[in-house]
Amino acid sequence: MEKIVALCKRRGFVFQNSEIYGGQNGFWDYGPLGTELKRNVRNSWYHDMVSAHNELLQPGDAPSKYQMVGVETALIMHPQVWKCSGHYDLFHDMMVDCRETRSRFRLDQVRIRWVSCDGQSIKQENTDAELTRIAVATTEEDFSEDLVVQALRAFGMKKKYAGKLQWDGSATTLDQIEVSEFCDVVAPGATKAGTLTDPREFNLMMKTIIGALGTDDDAAYLRPETAQGIFVNFKNVADSSRVKLPFGICQVGKSFRNEITPRNFTFRSREFEQMEIEFFCRPDASPGWYTYWRDRRYQWYLDLGISKDRLILRDHHAAELAHYSVGTADIEYAFPFLDEGEYGELEGIAHRGDFDLRSHMEGKLTKDENGELVPELNEHGQPRHRGSGKDLSYFDDQAKERFIPHVIEPSAGADRATLAFLCEAYHEDQQPDEKGKLQERLVMKFHPRLAPVKAAVFPLIKKEGMPEKAAEVFGALKAAGLNCQYDQQGTIGRRYRRQDEIGTPYCITIDGDTLTDGTVTIRDRDTLVQERIPADRVAEEVTARLNS
Ligand code: GAP
Repeated sequence: MEKIVALCKRRGFVFQNSEIYGGQNGFWDYGPLGTELKRNVRNSWYHDMVSAHNELLQPGDAPSKYQMVGVETALIMHPQVWKCSGHYDLFHDMMVDCRETRSRFRLDQVRIRWVSCDGQSIKQENTDAELTRIAVATTEEDFSEDLVVQALRAFGMKKKYAGKLQWDGSATTLDQIEVSEFCDVVAPGATKAGTLTDPREFNLMMKTIIGALGTDDDAAYLRPETAQGIFVNFKNVADSSRVKLPFGICQVGKSFRNEITPRNFTFRSREFEQMEIEFFCRPDASPGWYTYWRDRRYQWYLDLGISKDRLILRDHHAAELAHYSVGTADIEYAFPFLDEGEYGELEGIAHRGDFDLRSHMEGKLTKDENGELVPELNEHGQPRHRGSGKDLSYFDDQAKERFIPHVIEPSAGADRATLAFLCEAYHEDQQPDEKGKLQERLVMKFHPRLAPVKAAVFPLIKKEGMPEKAAEVFGALKAAGLNCQYDQQGTIGRRYRRQDEIGTPYCITIDGDTLTDGTVTIRDRDTLVQERIPADRVAEEVTARLNS
């Protein structure tokens, strides 16, 4: 992972946000190549799911027909949206503070191990209690040497006594132990036990103020998901665009969450981009559509080059399901920063039933003792959060029926997908140089659709009319709308290596033969095969190969 992060900075994929001021934790900036890559991820998603989606599948296929349309809604919405959606009351993490290091941690992200030390005892912070067994904690994915150092320091022992530490049981997380045991925990980076506060809830929505008065009545939230912008516009879209059930409304855009411990590069950020579909269908057809979307979305990542060995489709256990969901599956990727056998979520596909549309009609819903969704009431028997009162049902004019559609929601993260494509593309191999000597090669094997630069043009030497011919070829590629680079610096081998490192699928060299027979070489990044093709057909050939 360190190699990938280093490449991202060196070649301009991803930069730390506000780096010159020491960085802003949880925020990232995309450089020129990262911007192209992420735009290609987003565009491929929109192209495949919306613009190029053929609403008439093969006659007789089940499901046979659906339409897809897009919306772009505002980052800030009426505060009542978040009350009815459940985000206001339920969208929180449990967190603890450390009084010594003044850090804040998410309970489930602090990993601990219990340890004792040959009868050695330590004094607990703020009490006279002597502890002979403590838990040392880290937020790192693996239990590195640091934990040994931390345990020895807490026991006041020298490094040479590391062998006296008796590690007890396997690793667990802070949310798995009793709060009464927190006084025995040495928090991440702390020197003594007992510095953690009791856990408390922390709402993940980012608050902001609208208007000049700045009172609490002017508080609003940056959206934590793009989905609600779709739900509240369901009626507008259905009435204005003549879509008929089943249909999907899609949105790509920024979301914000006040993640307590942003981590793992761009994987968990406080500002990120989502690519969401809300697919509306008849309730009786929803199980079939749920399966359809799970499979379709999984295949999308495979088609864009993610290997099947590193991608899983995992069904949630009942206990994991979100408050609205009757079924959810995650598409997960084996990111290199995770332990062997662990996967990180790229996308969730949720069967949300009619929860969202009903909540925006009736007010915030909850499940009653029979598992039925009913409006949640306050202590006065009034709705806890009032809905819009608007009718968000749908009239099926063929079946002559009115009902509230059910929703299947494939919700993907554009930054996480981009990170997965970056990780998947990273390869190191050895290739012979001009003198036949094997050289290490770093090559980013992006799917050609995702590659930030599609082709590079090299004049072999900077004279004899080659730069002029190369400029012509470069111009033709640009005119075809292909992002390409021109490079006349250094040996051809070095120029190939520079392009391999950023994943350019095709390199075109203009040499002496070009001037006599009008052909150029085109070299394929993955097969390394070089072929001669007519110089005036380069743009056509590259376009054809990119689309093949
Ligand atoms: N509307 C449903 C929803 O938002 P989610 O699982 O909370 O569901 C969907 O988010 C996707 O958004 C995730 O699968 C992930 O790809 C992305 N995502 C969520 N939180 C993120 C974060 N803090 N940083 C980067 N991506 C995130």
